[in-house]
Amino acid sequence: MKVIVTENKIQGGAKAFEIFEKGIKNGAKVLGLATGSTPETLYQNWVESDLNCSDLISINLDEYVGLKPDNPQSYHYFMQKHLFDKKPFKKTYVPDGMTEDVKSFCKEYDQIIKDNPIDIQLLGIGRNGHIAFNEPGTPFTSTTHEVKLTENTIKANSRFFDNIDEVPKSAICMGIANIMSAKKIVLMAFGEKKAHAIKEMLEGEISEEVPATILQKHPDVTVICDEAAAQELDDKYKN
Ligand code: PGA
Repeated sequence: MKVIVTENKIQGGAKAFEIFEKGIKNGAKVLGLATGSTPETLYQNWVESDLNCSDLISINLDEYVGLKPDNPQSYHYFMQKHLFDKKPFKKTYVPDGMTEDVKSFCKEYDQIIKDNPIDIQLLGIGRNGHIAFNEPGTPFTSTTHEVKLTENTIKANSRFFDNIDEVPKSAICMGIANIMSAKKIVLMAFGEKKAHAIKEMLEGEISEEVPATILQKHPDVTVICDEAAAQELDDKYKN
């Protein structure tokens, strides 16, 4: 994995945008996108750029079960607000958190990913090493599935809700096999709370107990972290 350490998340977002822009100019058409605090500086750079997105397809990692797309806490809403309203894409896919048949929906989503192989996949990382909502213990062979959120993830995400009881208890999420099928992966992490997960991801034993460790097996991963997230890493990673 290639590691890029930036001073802060503003510079990290600019660096991530550079990679996406270069990839798109070189022909990338299908982007796997992510939500959360981490990608915000990337999307800021994106909307301020003159990059034309009208030929691009995006496939998002996940969505809460039970939230309508117009709910401000939904990941649909996040993507519209931070990127798609300002940079229209040819087609955008975000899992349907309101589907009445989650199992069939997950199969359809897998088919969408098969039909539109992802050129560049964006990821964040959880403090416990989760990628998207793939929590510790998720099989590396998993495809799109419904996830029961752990107490820790519910607690971490409650900062976006009025109170913790409003945080949905489950989500629809691309599986680890879907993520690994992307041609290129860009993982961003900012802040000291991510430092241990970053160290484990790069140097820990590959284990389903730390989902991000599977990325050691992917041939093209770039990790962008700020100095705080890189604080447990040896100097060899620092540029
Ligand atoms: P965050 O979430 O970007 O809001 O820190 C990342 C994650 O938990 O995957």
